[in-house]
Amino acid sequence: MTTLTVGVRPNPDGFGAEITGVDLSRPLPGPALEAVKAAFAAHGVVWFPGQPLTHDQLEAFTLQLGPFGWDPYVKPLEDRPHILEVRRDADETSSVFGGSWHSDWSFQETPPAATVLHAKVVPPVGGDTLYADGARAWEALSPTFQAMIAPLRAVHSAAGPYGSTGFYARETGRTGMTILPGVEAETAFSHPLAPVHPVTGRRALFVNPVYTVGIEGMTEAEGKALLGFLFRHMTDEAFVHRHRWAANMLTMWDNRRCLHNATGGYDGHLRLMHRTTVAGDRPRP
Ligand code: SIN
Repeated sequence: MTTLTVGVRPNPDGFGAEITGVDLSRPLPGPALEAVKAAFAAHGVVWFPGQPLTHDQLEAFTLQLGPFGWDPYVKPLEDRPHILEVRRDADETSSVFGGSWHSDWSFQETPPAATVLHAKVVPPVGGDTLYADGARAWEALSPTFQAMIAPLRAVHSAAGPYGSTGFYARETGRTGMTILPGVEAETAFSHPLAPVHPVTGRRALFVNPVYTVGIEGMTEAEGKALLGFLFRHMTDEAFVHRHRWAANMLTMWDNRRCLHNATGGYDGHLRLMHRTTVAGDRPRP
């Protein structure tokens, strides 16, 4: 049996890292799993090139990180309730799924800690995913501003995209995925605006333009003004990693630390990914 050495190559700013020297199609030995978890905690987004995986293997790898999260509003693969197919057909005219800055399912009481995305078919142009580092964005704020906003709670809801009259209910031209809007999306849940990360102890801004709809105790105009500032600040290019995919690459990101945004630019080409989530805890102040 050959022993692989885990290689971690972080981006120069420390946000995002490539991991090599592991075979994700088999259970990771204890030290390798610990090295992967440590890199994930340190860098927020990690990717593993050259990892062809079956559905069973993708599920088994995900379960090494924790139990599956709950993925509403998108029809999963047949007989695979925990795998979503993120697919846009070559002739599709709908919007790019996940094509605005967001953190996955932040409206849930316990949003997913991690999302795992496995590339099956990658278009020859476009289709990058952008990631924004909420931890460095928090750390770049002045101590005065941090002290002012640290006690706040932000209100999250899925109504905008997934409500019965929301974005996806009105959209036409989607063929690759089945989105399931509904009234249950029209509830709201509040979370600390900058929770402490349960593993690293580092705070990160935890608001996003898709699901965060206000600030508890503020008027709509006040909440909009503050959130508008934070959304612009968080997605400043200084905090952004642009991720270029290759077929069979597996990427996972920490929803407690970063936002992501799927870009388009590949009309006329198929893009096909399989996605799972890992359950998380309730964000804590
Ligand atoms: C998502 O938001 O999960 C989709 C990301 C992507 O397709 O790049």
